Amino acid sequence: MPFTHDDPRVEAFGRRVESAFAGEGSGHDWWHVWRVWRLARRIAAAEGADLLLVELAALGHDVEDHKLGRPEGTLAAWLAEAGVDAATAEAVVAIARRVSFKGAGVPDAMPTLEGRVVQDADRLDAIGAIGIARAFAYGGARGRLLYDPAESPEHHASFEAYRKTNSSSLMHFYEKLFLLKDRLHTPTARALAEARHAFMEAFVARFLDEWEGRS
Ligand code: ADP
Ligand code: NI
Repeated sequence: MPFTHDDPRVEAFGRRVESAFAGEGSGHDWWHVWRVWRLARRIAAAEGADLLLVELAALGHDVEDHKLGRPEGTLAAWLAEAGVDAATAEAVVAIARRVSFKGAGVPDAMPTLEGRVVQDADRLDAIGAIGIARAFAYGGARGRLLYDPAESPEHHASFEAYRKTNSSSLMHFYEKLFLLKDRLHTPTARALAEARHAFMEAFVARFLDEWEGRS
């Protein structure tokens, strides 16, 4: 069933994104966008953010992701086609540009509440059960090992060295996923992150126990 929305602009834009992302298997598929939109809406309502801007930015946040190779200007063009006014479109583009996580230690400036809401929603979709599934799907698509004991978590103080290599999917938890809960901006997202983070910790602990044949 195609994307539906009470606001015809959001519906038209959402459908444009849906059709473009339908064949995407990179972890930036339509269902990732849809989940981020759902979460962002919920967080926006709780935090008192501008809903139209949040919904459009959530739906559009990966349109110009450099990994997908769409030319700059695509997002603005799709927003205009959907009937979104120029000022709102400009605000959506500004948020989308800033959303990606740039790695540990890089300060992330997100000047608007709406941008913080969308970034939080995107980060929440990288953790918890969904985050686990995405990490192994991503690693599998690149032919990575589930886990490599040579880069065991006891060595993660030196993970900077491993980042540059084809590290295993399990290392991604130490490189990024376990760091995300402390990089959330809004209290609503922080509250949602608790259970997701705890689930990942339990998963990794159990994974390593099973790996060693301990349980
Ligand atoms: P975004 O652009 O939304 O921040 P990425 O493109 O970095 O996300 O990643 C998409 C998905 O793939 C996320 O769920 C992320 O955690 C996962 N991922 C990214 N890099 C790796 C990796 N090296 N190993 C395993 N999973 C990864
Ligand atoms: Ni995303």
